[in-house]
Amino acid sequence: MDFPPFFMDHLAGGRLIIGLIASVHVLINHPLAVGAYPLLVWMEWWAHKNNRPDVDRLAYKITFIVFIVTTTVGAMTGVGIWLSTSLYAPFAIGSLLRVFFWGWFAEWFVFIAEVCLIMWWFLSWKSMSVDAASKVRHIRIGIALAIMSWITMALIVAVLGFMMKPGEWSQTRAFIDAMTNPLYAPQLGFRTFFALMTGAVFIWFAAFFFTKRQSTDLGDRGPAIRRWLVYRMSHVVFVSLLLTYLFGIWYWNAIPETMKANSSVALLTQQFMGWHEQFKTLLGWTLACFLFIAIVGINDFFTLPRWALLIPTFMGIWMLGHFERAREFMRKPWVIGEYMYSNGVHKDELAFLQSEGLLKHATYATHREVTDANLVESGRDVFMMACSRCHSTTGFNGVVEKLEIMYGADKPWDPAAMQAFVAGMHQTRTYMPPFPGTPREAEALVAYLLELRETRESLPGAQSAGVVVAPAPGVNLSKQ
Ligand code: HEC
Repeated sequence: MDFPPFFMDHLAGGRLIIGLIASVHVLINHPLAVGAYPLLVWMEWWAHKNNRPDVDRLAYKITFIVFIVTTTVGAMTGVGIWLSTSLYAPFAIGSLLRVFFWGWFAEWFVFIAEVCLIMWWFLSWKSMSVDAASKVRHIRIGIALAIMSWITMALIVAVLGFMMKPGEWSQTRAFIDAMTNPLYAPQLGFRTFFALMTGAVFIWFAAFFFTKRQSTDLGDRGPAIRRWLVYRMSHVVFVSLLLTYLFGIWYWNAIPETMKANSSVALLTQQFMGWHEQFKTLLGWTLACFLFIAIVGINDFFTLPRWALLIPTFMGIWMLGHFERAREFMRKPWVIGEYMYSNGVHKDELAFLQSEGLLKHATYATHREVTDANLVESGRDVFMMACSRCHSTTGFNGVVEKLEIMYGADKPWDPAAMQAFVAGMHQTRTYMPPFPGTPREAEALVAYLLELRETRESLPGAQSAGVVVAPAPGVNLSKQ
């Protein structure tokens, strides 16, 4: 409403794009930046303390991979989250920026520090290994890096929890209440130990490639170092696993309370219960896999074939993806819980817009008043403002297809029934926000949808169609 609508019709509101970029980012950030860095620093420290240059060399080699991946795909997808969310949902990211201004301000410095420390730590590894004093300094750089990586996650997790359940902030509007939202602590614990667990499995897996007898400068010692590493990493997996489980349970028990407090009805809860059960099953199996790996590693019964590590890894990826998706789904129809709907309408503005009109108060609208002559054009604007963040016209989550399922693909649709549906869509489909306009605007929307059914014309976004700004109500340009 306040921003020119960026829209790619086949992709709807960009949820898919934002989701894909964010998932890749999390899959790199958690195991590698948050999980692997502290473990690699620990390896370096252990090697120094026990005078084991072979372990140091192995840590360096694994760090090389982590360094390349985190500073390329990791950093790019981090920027990609900003780019995609500010294109598709500028209203939401704008609100979050206002609430979390100081948090993000701090995060910006922490992130810059993190990038500098990664470069410094990795690139100075060899030159700072010459004597004991500089080695100790080098290890300190690594510790600082591990702390910074964790702090960036700790700040961002506050935003994620807040979007689902702002808690006290709803009353106080205080930054500190937004940071310490009810989901903050359990989610941070869950993600921290999940990161350590998967980071340990990653190091374990990567070690196979550098400890082959024939290929390395570790020579005959390769297999022995690998055994050492597997033993240590399986302890990390074992402990992190227990804590991931405990925090996971806390987290998932914290959510239903907030859903119950949310007055919304059956469907959302049902959908949620479905996700909840599936997630619990998946969490259980994934943890069982990690547990098996950890026990085998600790006990050294038999050497685990390297592909076996891929099983918990893929299950972990699947679980994390499922988890992020469920987290996003449950939040509907809100982009910020109890504060702003996914289409950018503030909860507090809803009643006003419903009586005054959406078009009248939007910044970018072709017409301010719906008339018989501009019915379809106005309806298109209404669709863009009220529906396009979740629906495309005929593509991904296409509105025509949804209506065909409801009213039949080969039957005429009844405009009156459609208007009644629009007016009450949030009551029966609680994942959709209430219609934020007047009955006349609902009529225009329906006229547009009926026309769309015939033409199936794709709807261009402001990036290609440009914007039209009708004069604000009460402003008559011709007289000025
Ligand atoms: C917060 C995102 C969101 C917004 C905004 C939204 N919808 Fe939906 N809508 C959904 C989802 C999710 C579904 C379910 C899709 C499915 O089940 O495949 C849905 C389903 C529908 C359906 C089919 C309902 C049924 O029971 O089969 C219609 C029709 C529909 N939406 C129309 C609209 C219109 C018109 C608007 C704008 C006034 C709108 N939606 C705004 C998310 C949204």
